[in-house]
Amino acid sequence: MLLIKNAEVVSSNRTDTADVWIEGTTIVQVGGSLKTIPVETIDAKGLMLIPGVIDTHVHFRQPGMEWKEDIKSGSSAAAAGGVTTVFDMPNTIPPTVDESSLTAKRKAFSEQSLVNYGIFIGAASSNMDFLNTAENVPGIKVFMGSSTGSLLLSDEKELEKVFACGSRLIAAHAEDEALLLLNKEKYRSANQASFHPLIRSPETALTATVKAVQFSQKYQRRLHLLHLSTQEEVEYLSGIYHKKHITAEVTPHHLVLSSPECYEQLNTFAQTNPPVREKRHSQALWTALKKGVIHTIASDHAPHLVSEKEKGYGLAPSGVPGVETSLPLMLNQVNKGQCSVHEIVKWMCENPALMFRLKNKGFIKKGFDADLVLVDMKKRKKVQNGRLFTKPNWSPYDGWTVQGWPVITFVNGQIAFREGEIMTSTLGKEVVFNKYEFRSQ
Ligand code: DOR
Ligand code: ZN
Repeated sequence: MLLIKNAEVVSSNRTDTADVWIEGTTIVQVGGSLKTIPVETIDAKGLMLIPGVIDTHVHFRQPGMEWKEDIKSGSSAAAAGGVTTVFDMPNTIPPTVDESSLTAKRKAFSEQSLVNYGIFIGAASSNMDFLNTAENVPGIKVFMGSSTGSLLLSDEKELEKVFACGSRLIAAHAEDEALLLLNKEKYRSANQASFHPLIRSPETALTATVKAVQFSQKYQRRLHLLHLSTQEEVEYLSGIYHKKHITAEVTPHHLVLSSPECYEQLNTFAQTNPPVREKRHSQALWTALKKGVIHTIASDHAPHLVSEKEKGYGLAPSGVPGVETSLPLMLNQVNKGQCSVHEIVKWMCENPALMFRLKNKGFIKKGFDADLVLVDMKKRKKVQNGRLFTKPNWSPYDGWTVQGWPVITFVNGQIAFREGEIMTSTLGKEVVFNKYEFRSQ
């Protein structure tokens, strides 16, 4: 038995000072006392205990691009960032679009991931059967516009077919391919990342989002909109009724970075799809989160090497690492008064568990998995390139002093990360998807 004593146990609606008892992989009691003598006691006085973060959008690059990241390095970065469950995206090499690639990825995660995991499958032009028969996956990822890798479903008829056939969740990367191609032509001499939000304009995002929502409404299909990035998208969504089956995500970079500064300071190191845009967009995204139009924050951890990013605009790949910094950045926002720690728990722990129907995750409750993070809200530390667990070892937040850090991360009752160190003996498990309905809180 493991006992975490005197922690401030935080949920989306309350904080209680309580002892939390863990037996094996499970939380067996919250509050009160037990007669059993614990094998280990951790005194958490002055620390907050939150459910482990469930990051439903990461790119761990294995198989096929292990030079950028692999399951071990990516999951170490996750544990260091207080993330106890990740959902990996299918744009690997080969892409996760059939039974054999899914089985191989599953095996690799089961042998190498330090944190729990789910594996998204990808919609390709001719894998409809697989999309509906694959077992225990968070959903189907659809790239409506091209991004990193070869996965793309820009043909409207094919896209409609995916929405029409089957019932499982569709996670949409909504950027309109036709408009992207037109804009790429228009700005073909673009030579720096500040052009990125012009090419991948608000209109490209809105057009695709509207299309996905319309198909979702037409077929009453569960839709999860990934990384919303514009004021226009959230205003459109706010005006739609009868959309209980539609949820939306935002990333920390779209919340805390804005143009033009990010491109002046970081150039291609701030280049990501969809792009970071002007302040009016990040402000609208915050408002949408607060109003419940956006339900969750996920990192879209998309690691690329410094040498790849240094190739300059046009050659550099899009994407920024983030799984290791998303919780600290958001806790920093709590310390700045932008939101409450309860909201963070709702957006990063509880809602992901509810939205994806995860069995026994997302809450500090008796019978739930002991995926927990002890957080020191007073701890101030600089994010520093060269001092990260993610393989490329850089961050767009290099040099930022951030207040609010995870100090211990528990995955299934075992310590995976403690004060700067990764415990490599721990392994995560594949999550289990339940059948109950989504209830956003
Ligand atoms: O910027 C991005 N990078 N957006 C994506 O959709 C993919 C990601 C990646 O895999 O690098
Ligand atoms: Zn992504």
